[in-house]
Amino acid sequence: MRAFRGSILHYLEDPHSHPDQAREYIEDGLLLVESGRIRAVGPYASMMPSLPTGTPLEDYSGKLLMPGMIDLHTHYPQTEVIASYGRQLLDWLNNYTFPTEMKFSDKAYASAIAERFVQELLRNGTTTAMVFTTVHPQSTEAFFEVAEQHQLRMIAGKVMMDRHAPAGLCDTAESSYTDSKALIERWHGKARLSYAVTPRFAPTSTPEQLQAAGRLMQEYPGLYLQSHLAENRDELAWVAELFPQARDYLDAYEQAGLLGPHCVYAHGIHLSDSACQRLADSGTVLAHCPTSNLFLGSGLFDMSRLTDQGVRFALGTDVGGGTSFSLFRTLGEAYKVQQLLQHSLHPDRAFYLATLGGARALSLDQHIGNFLPGKEADFIVIDPESTPLLSFRIQHCKTLSEKLFVLATLGDDRLIAATYILGQLAYSQEA
Ligand code: GUN
Ligand code: ZN
Repeated sequence: MRAFRGSILHYLEDPHSHPDQAREYIEDGLLLVESGRIRAVGPYASMMPSLPTGTPLEDYSGKLLMPGMIDLHTHYPQTEVIASYGRQLLDWLNNYTFPTEMKFSDKAYASAIAERFVQELLRNGTTTAMVFTTVHPQSTEAFFEVAEQHQLRMIAGKVMMDRHAPAGLCDTAESSYTDSKALIERWHGKARLSYAVTPRFAPTSTPEQLQAAGRLMQEYPGLYLQSHLAENRDELAWVAELFPQARDYLDAYEQAGLLGPHCVYAHGIHLSDSACQRLADSGTVLAHCPTSNLFLGSGLFDMSRLTDQGVRFALGTDVGGGTSFSLFRTLGEAYKVQQLLQHSLHPDRAFYLATLGGARALSLDQHIGNFLPGKEADFIVIDPESTPLLSFRIQHCKTLSEKLFVLATLGDDRLIAATYILGQLAYSQEA
């Protein structure tokens, strides 16, 4: 057993639907971890006397202990194109992303980038992510190997793409099915890893390939699906041309059986009421990626409307269309997007979405997302005084909500003093 002292914050419910019971905060708390799992949380004063003598105690007084953050959508091979200038989605893909993804036919290269990406996640306090690799099975293999070495809970999959991309990045409906199947057999359910069937987006998959993705989803219960949906207006027009038989963009996926509670679509900005209804009815999840939506000029994700319509969603960074690995930066931009829509995003809802909300969106809340006993001990140590400005600004906060809002607005990787995976130190700013 190990004990960690600090201020403890986690969510038990969605603050939107449970405004008074969502958050648990213990100013001077103790977090007990045993065999990689949460044993208990509570006030330091009442728990300390019953702690077995000799239990190692890590003192993080003055810092905040929170569950690790959850990124619903990111691309590890795009680590090296983050911050590429001046294009919207389709040009950005052709000019920056596709040429870079070609390099991932080289397994050694893929392994090196996967390691760098995972280190960057840990530096930013992200402990679980849903990750695109590239079309090359070896790029997926490389990512899973690295995630397994670090004992991370991760979801990833090989991109399926059989048209409208350079020849070196295309598979076929048949080969994508066979290659995905082999990867599923090898990695899905191994250690803390799950597989996501990954058709890139409707324009780069033939209807036959989407059908192949649907077949895989039927053959392996518990599998995930990840793709992109309704991100950009030019993309929408292109999908309408490519899928004349579909009533809208979502229908291209729906006709292949790709909707459901384990299906996660990035963006979902330009959607009709009918499409939102079908997402809600099927339990399909959206990943809101605000830094990407602003950077690529894609549009504004209307959280209020989607909440009212009952669509499940949480947050993604969408590196490298997104401009930060940090979920704090993502929360800050999510707030600004809601401002532009004349709505708001309360800091409690924001931190819920980055933790328990993300876990629920991925149907992983039995394992991660908060500090209930028995959950896996992936957690972060936040230093609210990590920069001179933060330190100064935090002193002027009267309530916890105000503090959280400041962290979301000004925070980034510098906030993360340490990241623990299964109760073991995986990153420390001091090291
Ligand atoms: N749509 C299809 N592929 C991509 C991608 O790599 N990034 C983003 N943001 N959108 C996409
Ligand atoms: Zn993406």
